[in-house]
Amino acid sequence: MATSEYEKKALGKETLAKYRELILLYDITEKLAASLDPQEVASLIIQEANKLINANKVSLMLINENTGLLEVIAGLGDEAKTKMSLKVGEGIAGYIALTGKAEIINNLSDDPRFLVGTRKVSSMMCAPLRIKDKTIGVINISSEEPANYTAEDLKLLSALTLQAAAAIENARLYDALKEAFLTAVSTLAETIEKRDTYTGGHTKRVMEYSLAIGKYFGLPDNEMERLKLAAVLHDVGKIGVRDDILLKNGKLDEEEYREMKRHTIYGEEVLKYIKYFKDIIPGVKSHHERYDGKGYPEGLSGTQIDIIARIIAVGDTFDAMTSDRPYRNALSKEVAYAEIKKCAGSQFDPEVVRAFLKAMALNN
Ligand SMILES: [Fe+2]
Repeated sequence: MATSEYEKKALGKETLAKYRELILLYDITEKLAASLDPQEVASLIIQEANKLINANKVSLMLINENTGLLEVIAGLGDEAKTKMSLKVGEGIAGYIALTGKAEIINNLSDDPRFLVGTRKVSSMMCAPLRIKDKTIGVINISSEEPANYTAEDLKLLSALTLQAAAAIENARLYDALKEAFLTAVSTLAETIEKRDTYTGGHTKRVMEYSLAIGKYFGLPDNEMERLKLAAVLHDVGKIGVRDDILLKNGKLDEEEYREMKRHTIYGEEVLKYIKYFKDIIPGVKSHHERYDGKGYPEGLSGTQIDIIARIIAVGDTFDAMTSDRPYRNALSKEVAYAEIKKCAGSQFDPEVVRAFLKAMALNN
């Protein structure tokens, strides 16, 4: 049977709309797959929803797992400023979170669930973000003018929320995994530290000092991540140093000192077999290098030394000076600040020392 001209046109239009929808969703999937930060994922979804559907206001709400409340975590228009939170079941968004079913409400003023407040809204679409059978949040799309949202709009929004829920869940899992990994790594570092002459907490403090310096130095987020891990693992190579040297109470002789210094190289040896640690090797291996080139193990100088290592060097030295050691008592913070300052340009990178002093002044 021949298809009529009218049917052909209608089919063409429908195919085109489907194709457009597919391209847009593919585009979103690609962008979402590249991001593992929940906040970034939420902002991206909001922007895309706004591109796809005619609206003045878009917001994404997630259920806070601790409080059980729905909270706005990203938004466009007035919604971005709202710090609104709702109980599940409360208002329209709360109702959608409860039922798990998307809805169009084209005449909001007649809807008894609508919480009027100060917001001027006429039409709204709301869809749940679902993972398996669980609702984790909702997306609200609304318009100040009557928008007459259609079933087609809702279908598009639902397709978007499917992607959004999966991306947010991924980002959350990645965060949890990173946290678990850092805990495992810290436990390892603390176990190694127990063999050392520090009275405890050295690894954690070096990490905290290093992160404070990194912040005032203006390191970008990805470098801060690298710094954190390298600071925790800076002395991991001590695992390879013999107990009689590592735990010796008195002064090390020349041979023993040479062996002790090798913990920097052992650090590289330990880490190089794990792909994930590749990026932090320079931070671990070079944390005893000196800015003037007189450090070890390679005698690197200036910017030849990875920035992460230049930062850890200051954090590590400061903590060593302000901790009790078997052969001397802790120095006061003031004496240690003066000592670090004196070594700017010789032992330490002067820019790093500047960031350190700024961080310490503001933290005390
Ligand atoms: Fe060290």
